[in-house]
Amino acid sequence: MERQADGVDGADGTAAGTTGARPRVVLGVGGGIAAYKSCELLRRLTESGHDVTVVPTESALNFVGAATWSALSGHPVATGVWTGVHEVPHVRIGQHADLVVVAPATADLLARAAHGLADDLLTNTLLTARCPVVFAPAMHTEMWEHPATQENVATLRRRGAVVVEPAVGRLTGVDTGKGRLPEPAEIFEVCRRVLARGGLSRDLAGRHVVVSAGGTREPLDPVRFLGNRSSGKQGYALARTAVARGARVTLVAANTALPDPAGADVVRVGSAEQLRDAVLAAARDADAVVMAAAVADFRPSHYTDMKIKKRDGQGPEPIRLAENPDILAGLSADRPHPGLVVVGFAAETDDVLANGRKKLARKGCDLLVVNEVGEGTAFGTDDNAAVVLGADGSETEVPYGPKEALAETVWDLVSVRLGGAPRTG
Ligand code: PMT
Repeated sequence: MERQADGVDGADGTAAGTTGARPRVVLGVGGGIAAYKSCELLRRLTESGHDVTVVPTESALNFVGAATWSALSGHPVATGVWTGVHEVPHVRIGQHADLVVVAPATADLLARAAHGLADDLLTNTLLTARCPVVFAPAMHTEMWEHPATQENVATLRRRGAVVVEPAVGRLTGVDTGKGRLPEPAEIFEVCRRVLARGGLSRDLAGRHVVVSAGGTREPLDPVRFLGNRSSGKQGYALARTAVARGARVTLVAANTALPDPAGADVVRVGSAEQLRDAVLAAARDADAVVMAAAVADFRPSHYTDMKIKKRDGQGPEPIRLAENPDILAGLSADRPHPGLVVVGFAAETDDVLANGRKKLARKGCDLLVVNEVGEGTAFGTDDNAAVVLGADGSETEVPYGPKEALAETVWDLVSVRLGGAPRTG
C-alpha cells in the first residue's frame, strides 16, 4: 500500500499540508452494536483528509457489512490474514499506520490486545503497529467493571495505548450505565490530538490525573446561589489534552454546560464542598491534580429552605458569609502521597504577576498558572494567556492562544515533574 500524495489542506491541524502525505489511520472495528457509530467516525476521518483502512473483526461484520466500510473508506476490507497474502497485510497494515483507533473496542478485543493474541487481522495489526493506538471501549457496564477488563485496560494503558473511558448513558436495549461508546465527534477529536502530537503523544500513559473545571455555586435558598463566570472551557481543555497524552482522567466539573470530553471520567458537583470531596477522593491514587475550577472562597453561612421573600419596607436582609475550605492549599500541605504533583490556577484582575507570586507561596502547590481575568477575559473565552510559576522559581510564559495550547504547556511541566515510570500502587 503506497502513501498517496494529496491536495488536502491541513487547516484543521490534522492532515498533512499540500506537499505531505495523508496521515494513515487504521480503524479497527470490534463486534458490538456500536459498530454503526464508527461509520460516522470513518466519515469524519476521511473528510478531514485521512487515508483510512478499516479492519473489522469477523463479529463486527454481523453489525455493519464489509461493503459499507469499503465504500466509505475507498479501500478493500478484510478480516482475516488469508486475504491478499502476497501483500502480507497482517504485517504491512500495522507497520505503515500513523494511528490505529479501535472503536468500538469490545471486552473480548481488549482482552486479546492486552494478551498479545494474533488470531485475526486486527489483532495482528495491533501487534505490528508502532504508532499511537487509541481504544474506544463499548460494552455493558458489568463487563466494563469486571476486574478482568479493568486489568486489561490497565495493561494497555501501561504500554502506552490511549484507552478512553466509555460514556455513561443508554446501552443496548433498555439498559443504561457506563459502557456506551463516546460520540464519534469526541473520538475523532482524541484521534486528531494524538496524531497532532505524533510520537510525543503518550507521555502521560499509565498516569491518573485529576482536573477540576467550572465554577462552584454556593446555594442561598432553593433558587439562588453565589457563583462566578467560569464556563469550564479551560478545565475541559486540560482534560481533553491529558486524554490524548494517554492519561486516565477524572474531570470534576462544577456547573458546566459543555459536552463530556471523550475518555474522561466526569464527576459532576455543585458547591465548593462537593468539589473538595470529589477532588480529594480522586486524588488518592492520582499522579497529578490540576485545579482550574473557580472555587468560591465564601458561601452563605445560612441556607434558607424556602425562597427568601422581599420584606416590606425593611430592605433586604444582609447575607452573612462563611469561609469555604481552601482545597488547593489543603491538598498541597497534606498530600495523599509524596509523588503527587499539585497545580493551581490564579485568577487575578490587577498586579497579576505580583499577586500570583504571593498566591503560589500561600497555596504551596508545585505550579501556579497565573491568568488575568475579567468579564470577557479568560472567563468563557476560547483563548487564554498565562504565566506558569513553578515552586522551583521557574516562570513559563504562554502567549495568548487556544486554551488547549496553555493546557499542553501545563502537562509538559507536569510531565517533567512526574519524571520516570508511572507508580504502580
Ligand atoms: O472556565 P473558563 O471560562 O475557561 O475560565 C477559566 C478560569 C479563568 C476559571 C481559569 O483559567 C482559572 O483562573 N481558574 C482558577 C479560578 C480561581 O478560583 O482562582 P483563585 O485565584 O480564586 O484561586 C486560586 C486557586 O485556588 C485555584 O486553583 C482554585 O481552584 C483554588 N481554590 C480557590 C478557593 C478555594 N476555596 N479552594 C481552592 O482550591
